Amino acid sequence: MCGIVGYIGKRDSQNILLEGLKKLEYRGYDSAGVAIHTNAGLELRKSKGRISELETRLEAQPLAGFAGIGHTRWATHGKPSDANSHPHADNDMKISVVHNGIIENHLQLKEELEQLGYQFLSETDTEVISHLISHHYEGNITDAVRMAVSQVRGAYAIAVLSEHEPDKLVAVRSASPLIIGVGEGENFIGSDIPAILEHTRDVYILNDGEMAVLTKDGVELMTLEGNFIAREMFRIDWDLMTAEKNGYDTFMLKEIHEQPRAYLDTMRGRIDEGKSILLTGVGLSAVEIRGLTQIHMVACGTAYHAALIGKTVIERLTRIPVEVDLASEYRYRMPVIHKNTLVIVVSQSGETADTLAALREAKQWGAHVMAITNVIGSSVAREADDVLFTQAGPEIAVASTKAYSSQLIAFYLLGMFMAQSLETLDQKALSELIANLERLPSQLEDMLKDLDQIQLLAELISNQNHLFFIGRGLDYSLAMEASLKLKEISYIHSEAYAAGELKHGSLALIEEGTPVIALATQELLMDKTVSNIKEVKARGAYVIALAMEGNTELEKTADQVIYVPRTISLFTPALAVAPLQLLAYYTASIRGNDVDKPRNLAKSVTVE
Ligand code: F6R
Repeated sequence: MCGIVGYIGKRDSQNILLEGLKKLEYRGYDSAGVAIHTNAGLELRKSKGRISELETRLEAQPLAGFAGIGHTRWATHGKPSDANSHPHADNDMKISVVHNGIIENHLQLKEELEQLGYQFLSETDTEVISHLISHHYEGNITDAVRMAVSQVRGAYAIAVLSEHEPDKLVAVRSASPLIIGVGEGENFIGSDIPAILEHTRDVYILNDGEMAVLTKDGVELMTLEGNFIAREMFRIDWDLMTAEKNGYDTFMLKEIHEQPRAYLDTMRGRIDEGKSILLTGVGLSAVEIRGLTQIHMVACGTAYHAALIGKTVIERLTRIPVEVDLASEYRYRMPVIHKNTLVIVVSQSGETADTLAALREAKQWGAHVMAITNVIGSSVAREADDVLFTQAGPEIAVASTKAYSSQLIAFYLLGMFMAQSLETLDQKALSELIANLERLPSQLEDMLKDLDQIQLLAELISNQNHLFFIGRGLDYSLAMEASLKLKEISYIHSEAYAAGELKHGSLALIEEGTPVIALATQELLMDKTVSNIKEVKARGAYVIALAMEGNTELEKTADQVIYVPRTISLFTPALAVAPLQLLAYYTASIRGNDVDKPRNLAKSVTVE
């Protein structure tokens, strides 16, 4: 995710900003930049790529000044490029802005601003903010910022430096973290604690709908309505490593907890007043959707497991037949592709060699290729005809968690989007689906607060040598992901089985005490799954079941039941995934493994 740093004080700001940005590098980024108020006015330096490239640029053309803002960008709108890097400025070079988050109504605002004569130099959503502030500026930068953000819808944390009032920085937070660091004769802005930790441990934490005005000598906090806020300063006693993980022990745990936010960001701007799905960036027209005769989904590993769920989602909502392939198999099996085939490749990194090769193969055969990926500017994103970006933010832990679950959200959105064109859902059904979808982030948030049961279960399985996950339908697809997660970080052997298939051979492996994790969230298949649970119980298995809230009858059969909040059956994987990720996580931690960097694995697999 993007990073923000700001400085105002008595020291030269260039190096403070650069050092702050370097402290945010661990979060992942594709470009970086700074704006500094110098003797010559407001000046910007920005560049695509590593911070070292920005540094080289600054070595050649240094900026001297006591106030500045800096940014590391993770592209959400517009590819990584110098022009799209932050800071962005207004046309008079009087106002510069850095921004984290997503402006939902940026297209509409851009159109309005263009009509007023403002010229846009980038493809970002952020640039509308600098022009809006310029538009509203009438001698008071704080008021201009306040008026600008009142027009903006979405999630944002912004920092503003202006030539009009260079002795001030203005910061605003709405659903994207921002802190104000307080020093002596100097003050700081940071999206994250590491950015400013070297200089101060005293911070104000901004809440949503609040802004801060910083001078070198003081900080004023106020609401967006202009009411002053008195707030206690917060003393940070974390070391840098803890701060990088936002207080979590590992990146994986942090990323598991970031999932509600990733869901919100992936949905953001794509749902129109609870009634319809808008997928800007997906160029597939209604006529093209109606002409599709089949869909192929191609991916590797965890992304493949997301595609398996995507298959059920798309088939149920559109009735178009879907095949799912492992990318490493797809290109060599001579798939039957024709021009009415839509091929959807799924890849967090967008750089996986097999997935990329499958994409190229599909294009050669004339298919329309859509990518679901997390990385704007990645090879997959560049080469596909259409891209549906997940907005999970950078994923640092090798084991994928928030990227996987955001892929599920992308499939839900895509399924509904296609169903609109095909008219396979009436308005009532569509609105009901959307209402359930919009509830998922808060339901997941609630689930993530109650972890005691999972920790106890992890103790129980941490000394086992092998175990099974079973389930039917969507539960089976999710079981595959749960099994992979456990294997890759705990190194315990596990297998995912379609619950009805176990008795055709592998039941022989069940003995006294073998743990079986039975996913039973699909209510229509519940009776069948319960029969399969009884089969393994009869052979001595210790059964941990996962069920939707209210299905207490499972307690009669299983040894333990984990409950998942109630939603429609199509969406249960987006909730049930969390306890399964956490089970893998705590099991691996108890075994003393390096959870973020499991042995033999790499985050991005760029070899075949
Ligand atoms: C497992 C995991 C991998 C990736 C796979 C594909 O936790 O992360 O299985 O899912 O290597 O990677 P992407 O999605 O980047 O194509």
